[in-house]
Amino acid sequence: MTIPAGLEAQRSLGEEWADWLDRLPRLRAELLEEWGLAPDGEPMHGFCSLVLPVVDADGVAAALKLALPDDESEHEALALQHWQGDGTVRLLRADPHRRAMLLERLHPRDLSDLWDVAACEVVAGFYPRLHRPAPPQLRPLTSYVSRWLDDLEGLGRELPVPPRMVEQALHLGRALVSDAASTGVMIHGDLHYANVLAADREPWLVIDPKPMSGDPHYEPAPLLHNRWEEVQGDVRASLRRRFHTVVDAAGLDEARARDWTVVRMVVDASWAVQDARRAGRALDADERDHVTRCVAIVKAVQE
Ligand SMILES: Nc1ncnc2c1ncn2[C@@H]1O[C@H](COP(=O)(O)OP(=O)(O)O)[C@@H](O)[C@H]1O
Ligand SMILES: [Mg+2]
Repeated sequence: MTIPAGLEAQRSLGEEWADWLDRLPRLRAELLEEWGLAPDGEPMHGFCSLVLPVVDADGVAAALKLALPDDESEHEALALQHWQGDGTVRLLRADPHRRAMLLERLHPRDLSDLWDVAACEVVAGFYPRLHRPAPPQLRPLTSYVSRWLDDLEGLGRELPVPPRMVEQALHLGRALVSDAASTGVMIHGDLHYANVLAADREPWLVIDPKPMSGDPHYEPAPLLHNRWEEVQGDVRASLRRRFHTVVDAAGLDEARARDWTVVRMVVDASWAVQDARRAGRALDADERDHVTRCVAIVKAVQE
């Protein structure tokens, strides 16, 4: 089996990735065999997973997802099990130890095809269905954020973000970490346009949770990164329109959603620097663009 080039490129991110990529062909073969599946199309992938269209022994279409074994993927199957297909893809079978899941097959089309405001409304419409009391196994959002803020602080001037913005993110982030309202609700964690696929049971269903025990106000930030080409004309107005559409449709507290967005975007920018550092090089063009976007988002939701 050849691993898709886009996934193979993650090898530069470190040993953990290289080990996983080396094990993938064998893992794929084992699971196809054990679960009685046959390949049924070209492999797909995301940032940290391989997804194979398959058919089971009865000829039913499904998707076999093999994910990088990290903290964030640990409870993906657990969350899908809790949601039981209510607004999300159905989990048909799972081996959490090997990070393998057999999922209901959905369509290739994602929310990127929809008009911007409509797409934001669809996403916000999922919040009440997804945001349930968190099962006890899920890690608290605050445990992640606390670690990310420490890493952010450690980067100092290496991060090409205005120092005052970094200060602000650290300050807001620490306050949110010590606030009891920042945990207790099961959140998706990575709910953006590419993680909502067209389906038959409902027009759209959610995939790819990075579940945590968190705060619904943490949820909107990834939407603001989507379809950047489209926000070019007037970045500020476009991003604010998205932000307000989600906040209004989901009935969120605007100030709290803004604070989480600031924290999340500065932390997200810091990851690009950490990835480059791990690979032993300067920021590449994509990473520089990514940081610029994060800064633009922070400015847009505040000014
Ligand atoms: N159940 C599914 N049915 C069809 N395609 C899927 C399904 N799950 C994932 N995919 C495809 O695989 C890609 C990567 O899957 P995703 O779960 O988003 O992983 P990642 O965490 O790597 O982003 C998706 O963008 C989508 O194109
Ligand atoms: Mg995804």
